[in-house]
Amino acid sequence: MTTAHPPVPKAELHLHIEGTLEPELAFALAARNGIALPYASEDELRRAYSFSDLQSFLNLYYALMAVLRTEEDFADLAHAYLARAKEQGVRHAEIFFDPQAHTSRGVPIGTVIEGLGRALDAAQETYGISTRLIMCFLRDESAESALETFEAARPYLDRITAVGLDSAEVGNPPSKFREVYARAREAGLKCVAHAGEEGPPAYVWEALDLLGVDRVDHGVRCMEDPELVARLVAEQIPLTVCPLSNVRLRVIDDLADHPLPAMLDAGLLVTVNSDDPAYFGGYAQDNFTAVRDALGLDEDTLRTLARNSFQASFLDEETRAAYL
Ligand code: ADE
Ligand code: ZN
Repeated sequence: MTTAHPPVPKAELHLHIEGTLEPELAFALAARNGIALPYASEDELRRAYSFSDLQSFLNLYYALMAVLRTEEDFADLAHAYLARAKEQGVRHAEIFFDPQAHTSRGVPIGTVIEGLGRALDAAQETYGISTRLIMCFLRDESAESALETFEAARPYLDRITAVGLDSAEVGNPPSKFREVYARAREAGLKCVAHAGEEGPPAYVWEALDLLGVDRVDHGVRCMEDPELVARLVAEQIPLTVCPLSNVRLRVIDDLADHPLPAMLDAGLLVTVNSDDPAYFGGYAQDNFTAVRDALGLDEDTLRTLARNSFQASFLDEETRAAYL
């Protein structure tokens, strides 16, 4: 019998907690909350995971969230993710959540944050994983809704490390959210934003110049703009790349064509992450293994990617240095 290599220790920096909702847990929560799902079985649900673009995924992602109602549901969701993350070598996780996807269904923001917080509080002791929470605004909702969400979250800001921006990118540029990002920065929060996933390089420029982001989520389309690459390299702005997601959402055709090696060669501070692992076929180590196999990355490169993940994290200087 051969012993499998233990997964490389890493930080997960691009992970939507709602995107970790596996079919088994979705059905269990539906039963607990008396909610009927429009799928006869877990297998039938899984068969719906065939996406033509970001929007086709988002439609299912938001619909399935109907099963998340109570603090306990959010705690169970986060516990299930952390148990998997531990198996995948994750030592630190910076976790996105989408409050508007819940408040719009009548779930109070406090229920979401307290439920997730309950699981995250136990994460260090139970799983040996440190965590941070990143509150995302849905960019296909209005700027006013983002501002209202930020104000509703004020009593909980001690639990939140950063704000982010996600959902349907094209037609919803970062410039729409200047005000709420200014407010978040004023409150001492870090800032990240999805940009350059389906949207053009101009959206990455806007995220940098108008929102003042500390990291760019995805950002793969920066490779179309050499000046933008030069800026990202010069400032060592981290990019949280999600290879399996990019293939499933048809951002790229084939993993073998992924720009990850070119991004590393260009000197970009790239990390590898899982985005919505329940939907895209793999958690953190699965993404590392997939790029290793499809792109022929050697052990040194994989170690660089793991080191980058800690370097790009919001861990304090001392803790971060201990991982490098
Ligand atoms: N929400 C969850 N996953 C997302 C992604 N890959 N892009 C934009 N919004 C998302
Ligand atoms: Zn994402």
